[in-house]
Amino acid sequence: MKNILARHQLKTFTERPALEQAMVSSICSIINEAIASQGRASLAFSGGSTPKAMFALLSQADLDWEKIIISLVDERWVDNHHDQSNERMFRENILQNKAANATLVGMKTLHNDISAGVSDYQSKLHTDIPLPFDLVILGMGNDGHTASWFPDAPELPQAMDVNSEQLVVPTRPASQPTDRITLSIVPVMTAKNIFLHITGDEKKQVLEKGINNNLSLPIHQTLDILTQKVDIYWAK
Ligand code: 6PG
Repeated sequence: MKNILARHQLKTFTERPALEQAMVSSICSIINEAIASQGRASLAFSGGSTPKAMFALLSQADLDWEKIIISLVDERWVDNHHDQSNERMFRENILQNKAANATLVGMKTLHNDISAGVSDYQSKLHTDIPLPFDLVILGMGNDGHTASWFPDAPELPQAMDVNSEQLVVPTRPASQPTDRITLSIVPVMTAKNIFLHITGDEKKQVLEKGINNNLSLPIHQTLDILTQKVDIYWAK
């Protein structure tokens, strides 16, 4: 039996605000260390609904925001004003308050064809978005996806290929209303720090149910592949 969780750090909180405060404090330490040693911090955050309150709290942090580059782990292939756009959620929740002067590099381009957008973004990684990331924050769905590595995405093997040349890939999961553009596991696994941010009993059950047996879900495969410790933040 592989107990993958033992290699990672599960941090549980009784209340979500306590989780958010603890996470923001750790994010600030990582950012300050990165700026002190490199003159800038390069971050990749996941979207969805879970991180919104944490983003709002982070936006009030006293940081050197002009030296911080925020990018996305994944994006729905919709216009960046669409209510499903992660970039829109980032602009409305992080790029506010003290963080208004941070640099946000979106993933959605004007191309209709997602493949053209993927190659456009691939060229931005290393140029506009310094690698390795100082911090990647992953989320998780109740289906066990993380990033846009969905169990039913035909492109899942490529997205999770540790030897891939592709740093960003499209995924087209039938379970989702839109195509997705997502980092592959390659720039995630080289990140200096990785957090997984999940809330609610259902996600914890999904995480714990598969972790010790069939590694069937992308989140389990991810935690098995990642050699560095992932800080897993969970609250009810
Ligand atoms: C997205 C995210 C995705 C997210 C999970 C959880 O674009 O949806 O990047 O990976 O982390 O789907 O989403 P919730 O926080 O909304 O449950």
